[in-house]
Amino acid sequence: MSIFGKDLGIDLGTVNTLICENDEIVLHEPTVVAIDIDELKIVDVGHSAREMDGRVPESIEVSRPLRDGVIADFEVTHRMLGYFIERVSGPARLFKPRVMITVPLGVTSVEMRAVHEATLQAGSRDVHLIQEPLAAAIGVGLPITTPSGNMVVDLGGGVTQAVMIAMSGIVAQGATRLGGLKLDEAISTYVRKKYGLIIGPRTAEEAKIRIGAALPQDEDRTIEIQGQDQVTGLPRPVTISTSEIVEALQETLQLMVMSIRDVLEKTPPELASDIIDRGMVICGGGSLLRGIDKWLTRETGVPAYRAEEPVACIARGAYRGLGMLDRLRRTLPKV
Ligand SMILES: Nc1ncnc2c1ncn2[C@@H]1O[C@H](COP(=O)(O)OP(=O)(O)OP(=O)(O)O)[C@@H](O)[C@H]1O
Ligand SMILES: [Mg+2]
Repeated sequence: MSIFGKDLGIDLGTVNTLICENDEIVLHEPTVVAIDIDELKIVDVGHSAREMDGRVPESIEVSRPLRDGVIADFEVTHRMLGYFIERVSGPARLFKPRVMITVPLGVTSVEMRAVHEATLQAGSRDVHLIQEPLAAAIGVGLPITTPSGNMVVDLGGGVTQAVMIAMSGIVAQGATRLGGLKLDEAISTYVRKKYGLIIGPRTAEEAKIRIGAALPQDEDRTIEIQGQDQVTGLPRPVTISTSEIVEALQETLQLMVMSIRDVLEKTPPELASDIIDRGMVICGGGSLLRGIDKWLTRETGVPAYRAEEPVACIARGAYRGLGMLDRLRRTLPKV
């Protein structure tokens, strides 16, 4: 820990925000804010704001301030970060924390400055940015400072990102602004077309998490979901199965894998052999989809392994990155 205050690693994701302190995850909340639009003030953030969605009067708007991995609403993001930092640091702090916070690959300089500025305004000092998959590689403990090639794929809610890292540098990278939220949309579209039923995004996500898979499974599970009949407008249930979700997800998964193929194509031959031997590490909430490791192995020809702590590793890597600033300086995004 720095003598001037604490060090925090923050994974600012489209769907979830995590904070790591002393190598432990001290906050894990949805990146969601509830705003009173008449009084223009934040009513709640995180889990409790998410619970309000669809259950509160119209004057309260529940929204995500990030879209496709980047800040869509600056004002709301910096205030949300302020709440989160205060929650882990306490309101009356003598010294502001030093922070390393994540950004997706391929962000513009304007988008990077927004994250930097929002984090400063949220009550921190000395803010450093780190690319999400680089943070993941550090959090997983890959030997990124060595000359061997390390490949990491982050399957997030808003973005899919892949990198090849060697000697603390990013050798090749690829990103698609498609993630878990698009998989949920694909399930909604499938159910609407096949059953004439309109379902909300949370229902689609629940079906994906409870019974979904990237590949057909030995046990074809089912779930009953509630929706609204497209014609009559009346509520109606329908039972869907794992194999239907597998079918619904294929097209979006094919688009997501393009960023990974991109990286493999750009990788120098010396490193490519390391990757064939050691495989790629997958992380992010999307890596929890059943069979996604086998699916990626089949689609890319490179063995894919899920990280041990696929969601926590990114915030943890950001935290650890503060202790490696000298080695990373060349690679970290410059604001
Ligand atoms: N068991 C599961 N199976 C499939 N998907 C899952 C599972 N658990 C979580 N997810 C999905 O993971 C996504 C969230 O992942 P994550 O928290 O890594 O995203 P994020 O970091 O907020 O987004 P990004 O990095 O793209 O900005 C959601 O779309 C969620 O539905
Ligand atoms: Mg993420």
